[in-house]
This record gives sequence, structure tokens and C-alpha cells, in this order.
Amino acid sequence: MKCTFLGHAAVLIEALDYKIIIDPFLKHNPLYKKTDDDTVGITHVLITHAHGDHIGDAVEIAQQNNAVIICNFEISSILKSIDKSLNIHPMHLGGRVPVDFGTVKMTPALHGSGYIENDMIYDGGSPCGFLLKVADKTIYHAGDTGLTYDMKLLENSLIDLAFLPIGGNYTMDVDDAVIAVDFIKPNKVVPIHYNTFDLIQADPKDFKNKVSQAEVIILDSGDSIDI
Ligand code: NI
Ligand code: MN
Repeated sequence: MKCTFLGHAAVLIEALDYKIIIDPFLKHNPLYKKTDDDTVGITHVLITHAHGDHIGDAVEIAQQNNAVIICNFEISSILKSIDKSLNIHPMHLGGRVPVDFGTVKMTPALHGSGYIENDMIYDGGSPCGFLLKVADKTIYHAGDTGLTYDMKLLENSLIDLAFLPIGGNYTMDVDDAVIAVDFIKPNKVVPIHYNTFDLIQADPKDFKNKVSQAEVIILDSGDSIDI
């Protein structure tokens, strides 16, 4: 299965006949290198929280592809108010559902999820991460989060690939992400959510050097790995 990093926290997973995009912040993402077909044929759009750098172009992508949006209940209500015809699967922290490509579990994240429109802020519920089973692989996207001891529970899930924020300021920094890897024990880990903005500068090589128990794969925006 092919996993592509699209810059910031945006990830594309292609497996079986499915094309799953997580946190599709593309149009205004300074790191995103546009290609012709990243957003063509998307079947699922997953949103970890309502901040603009994660909800991004979710509505547009879902509309163009008639894709299913998977997000928390509060964000689903906000999106329904934008376009009633959106196909949305609302869920919440701790919930696990079978979906056509496997299963989705919503995991806790230590962060905010306010949705901002016209200088007003609306309640976007609780932020989350996603634990996905896709075909025979288990993938974890942490979303935006600080380090939590809850991550230790994830080691039982035998995660093949984890996407973890390392940029600090709004999320874990490198040193806390190193501890997270120790808790989660993924096979492979890709650092995300760094160097997009001034406040989240981090060195992924520093992260790679400090992690000893997993294979750290540094992806530039547009790079893919096969797992
Ligand atoms: Ni955020
Ligand atoms: Mn963010």
C-alpha cells in the first residue's frame, strides 16, 4: 500500500480500490506540491480536528469525489450546515467502526478543535487521532497532540506506520515525540507537522537520531513509501 506525505499533516493512503486522505490542508499549505491526481478519486476524507490547517480543503475534495467524510460529531454538524448533501460519518473518541477499507478508530488527542469563520469561533468538539486498519496494515495518524500517557495503550495495536507531529509549540516537539515512539512502538514512523510555519520549526534528522526503536522515515512533501 502506498502512503504519500502531502506536507504539514496531510497524508494520502492508497490501498485496494480506496484512496484515503487525512487532514487535506493543500490549497493554502506552503509545503504542498500540487499534482494532477492527488485529489482525484478520493473515497474517504478523514479530519482530526477543525483547525484550518487540518480541515483544509475537506469540503471541496469530498464534493468533487462524492467521498465519505469521517470526523467527530461536532465537525460533522458544522460541515452539514455548509452543505447538507455531504456524505459524513460522524463518530467520537474511542469509537471504532468497520468501514469498506477496514476499520477506523478515533483516538484521543491533547489539543483544541475550534472552527473559525468570519472571526467567530465555533465548537469543533474534541480533537482526535486515527487508528486505521487498511487491508492488512495498521496505521496511526496522531493528529495535533501533546504527549500523553494514553499513547501507551497503542502499543497493543501493533502499528505498522505512525505519523507523529514533531514541530512543538502547538504539539509534541522532537523530544516528546521520541517518548511517544517509545510508548507506541510502531514499526515505522514518519514525522509530520513541522517547518510549515515559523512557530513549528524542527529538525526531522534530530528526531531520527534520537529514535532507536522504530525506523524513522523522513518524507518531503510529495514523497511516498510502500508498506
Ligand atoms: Ni491544530
Ligand atoms: Mn495543526
